[in-house]
Amino acid sequence: MDLRASGFQRLGAAARIDVMGKHRAASDPQENTTMTVQDIHPSLAAMEIVCAETAAAPTAMIVFGASGDLAHRKLLPGLAQIQQRGLLSEHFCLLGCGRTEYSDEQFRQMAREALRKNAKGISDDTARSFIEGLYYLSGDYDDPALYQRLKDRLAELKARHRISGCDIFYLAVPPALYGRITEHLGAAGLSCKGEPECQQCARLVVEKPFGRDLQTATELNQTLDRWFSEEQIYRIDHYLGKETVQNLMIFRFANGIFEPVWNRSHIDNVQITIAETLGVEHRASYYDHSGALRDMFQNHMLQMLALVAMEPPSSFDADRIRDEKAKLLRSIRPFGFDEWNSSFVRGRYGPGIVNGQHVPAYREERGVAADSTTETFVAARLFVDNWRWKDVPFYLRTGKRLARKNTEIAITFKQVPHSLFGSVGLDELPPNVLVFRIQPEEGMSLHFQAKRPGSKICMGTLNMSFAYKDVFHAEMPEAYERLLLDCMTGDQTLFTRFDSVDLAWRLLMPVLDAWQAGRTPLPEYPAGSESFPQADALPAADGRRWRRL
Ligand code: BG6
Repeated sequence: MDLRASGFQRLGAAARIDVMGKHRAASDPQENTTMTVQDIHPSLAAMEIVCAETAAAPTAMIVFGASGDLAHRKLLPGLAQIQQRGLLSEHFCLLGCGRTEYSDEQFRQMAREALRKNAKGISDDTARSFIEGLYYLSGDYDDPALYQRLKDRLAELKARHRISGCDIFYLAVPPALYGRITEHLGAAGLSCKGEPECQQCARLVVEKPFGRDLQTATELNQTLDRWFSEEQIYRIDHYLGKETVQNLMIFRFANGIFEPVWNRSHIDNVQITIAETLGVEHRASYYDHSGALRDMFQNHMLQMLALVAMEPPSSFDADRIRDEKAKLLRSIRPFGFDEWNSSFVRGRYGPGIVNGQHVPAYREERGVAADSTTETFVAARLFVDNWRWKDVPFYLRTGKRLARKNTEIAITFKQVPHSLFGSVGLDELPPNVLVFRIQPEEGMSLHFQAKRPGSKICMGTLNMSFAYKDVFHAEMPEAYERLLLDCMTGDQTLFTRFDSVDLAWRLLMPVLDAWQAGRTPLPEYPAGSESFPQADALPAADGRRWRRL
């Protein structure tokens, strides 16, 4: 932990504790006093780490879309990293499946390149043995013959690698193919739902977006449900795999001191921000039909909200946690016919300067329609109607091409009820703020008032801040590494159950309908902006404002 004065630079005391409780010298040149761990509290020296990790069971993974971007950037590197940590079963193979014609050797060559570019800390030995377990099958996803060949090849590979465990079908393909591929898998007898004679288990992994509205999500789920039960379906929301998002649960439920103040009596408001500097990149064909509400808000933002605000589950068990998340989503106050208008703001980036570079307007990006009405920014004010949160505003915003990349959750506590320091002009004292920094500077900070040495009354905001990189000295694992491992161990905690997907779409349908009907403005903000007037008006209507990015 690094106690660092910000806006209060001469406080001058720094303490660092690593997780084993050993003392290290403070390295910040602005700090001039070093405390040992024992100076803070002797019991911290005895702090111990408790870890639990389960190695993957024997698995055959079949990746549809194996020659694509996701496999290249995330899946192959993530799996190799799991192997590097000694957690991949020695009985593992991956059968890539795609429309591109590759031989096994060509696929392996592509995988070598993927590991070289995107895997972290992989030894040559790991890379070699991982790549030996990769195979490839090309074909047309709509051709039933592909699935017969797949079945035969799978049987042969499972025998060769002595795999008696699960088949994991990973759909790394455009969402329009999810339903069709699932039907074919089912018809070929590969899904095993309710088939007692099925010797193996089968799991299906689907990426977001899960549908593009309530109706399509429901239809897709009906198709999936025909062949795979909910226990077999792993819906990925990669935000749930981020270490700092997982830490929300540990923070809230492994500490006694926060829960008593985690409610409307003590919290003034909650802000959740996902700000990106990137634009639409090469994904216009998908993004222009999606937009920020579908791409980020329906899933990542609402899932983070659920983790921050849900009730404590009775155990750290997938369904108990997912029950609480669903309960929370169900408690979000629905918007009346016109309320969405004062609760949601959208925007689209115009030309501007990001990180010192001129960038084009969204509508000028390659692949975006010149008359596009897709939003690249969305902000919302939500209320959760339950005893804990009644009337506490949750402000959520996400956008592309903003001033800085910053994902954070900020809990602002209520101001002190009465200031003792009015006589020296301090009628209003800044509130305490607890910030979970999700990325890029992963960590946490707590802002509070403290006396500055010297004058009789002199105070400033002290920022007690902890950065993962300072304490844990290791690269943060990729979200996909966690999610792929959990899928192989059969742990659904970090995967979205359909009730949450359904509730999120239900909540947002009035907004989507109104936006589609053009019943609300779509202002442009200059690329590289912090914010823009319509977005600022949302918290301003309640006398509050957005935190700086
Ligand atoms: C994806 C969205 O789910 O998340 C992208 O489709 C977005 O549009 C990305 O850029 C952001 O993820 P991260 O992990 O970079 O914050």
